Amino acid sequence: MISEAADAVRKAIAPRQPTVAIVLGSGLGFLGEEIGDAVRVPYARIPGFPQPTVQGHAGELIAGTLEGAAVLAQSGRFHLYEGHDPAVVALPVRVFAVLGIRTLIVTNAAGGIRRTMRPGSLMLIADHLNFTGRQPLAGPLVEGEERFPDMSDPYDGELRARARAVAAEERIPLEEGTYAATLGPSYETKAEIEMLKRVGADAVGMSTVPEVIIARARGIRCIGISIVTNLAAGLGAPTLSHKEVLETAERVKGDLGRLVKGIVRICDA
Ligand code: HPA
Repeated sequence: MISEAADAVRKAIAPRQPTVAIVLGSGLGFLGEEIGDAVRVPYARIPGFPQPTVQGHAGELIAGTLEGAAVLAQSGRFHLYEGHDPAVVALPVRVFAVLGIRTLIVTNAAGGIRRTMRPGSLMLIADHLNFTGRQPLAGPLVEGEERFPDMSDPYDGELRARARAVAAEERIPLEEGTYAATLGPSYETKAEIEMLKRVGADAVGMSTVPEVIIARARGIRCIGISIVTNLAAGLGAPTLSHKEVLETAERVKGDLGRLVKGIVRICDA
């Protein structure tokens, strides 16, 4: 399935040869509109890609140029909470790897746990905690992947340092911290947030970790940014809603867009 999907994408986007992939999280699809010379590949045309089911997620890959770099954006990701197999969640990243992509930029929406977080804060992901209960690498070894990939520095230190420099130049406040991934789709209980806080989580969300694990098994450099769309359960508003998540993402999309573009500029530097 991986090579069929990669062949379909390669043909559809030819002669473009992207080197950077960007996964657009909840409400961040607008970045796809800023890609120049774009060709869009709907998921329906890619073998093994299901239709996304979540509001705020389209379903297409967009190849083109952003800040002079050849990029491939994934608008609409697959989540474990939709009932997808980890292999489906990971399929786009496997396709990126086969296409020759060397850098993965992941964005997501997350609940803020650390005291310094506010709705609208941007957080550079320094590390993650996998609380999904799933492992996309479990099972027979897939060609091109390491059996026991090192995960001691999954979010590339050098890219992070450059991202911090971009944020400082652009005067974008940027937090940095540990992202905990849960399976979802229910938001966490207050007790779960208290537990996550104690084990070192700074933000919590329902994505990203499966993609990053596969990327690392394939030697792809990763950088991740969370939009803190809300304070996690018990720390802010009495109830959480997906509407609030989308509204906050909408409010800070300008900053996130400039940050991602700045990161794209330095990816090949
Ligand atoms: N919890 C989990 N996932 C999320 C949250 C949250 O509070 N906000 C946005 N995605």
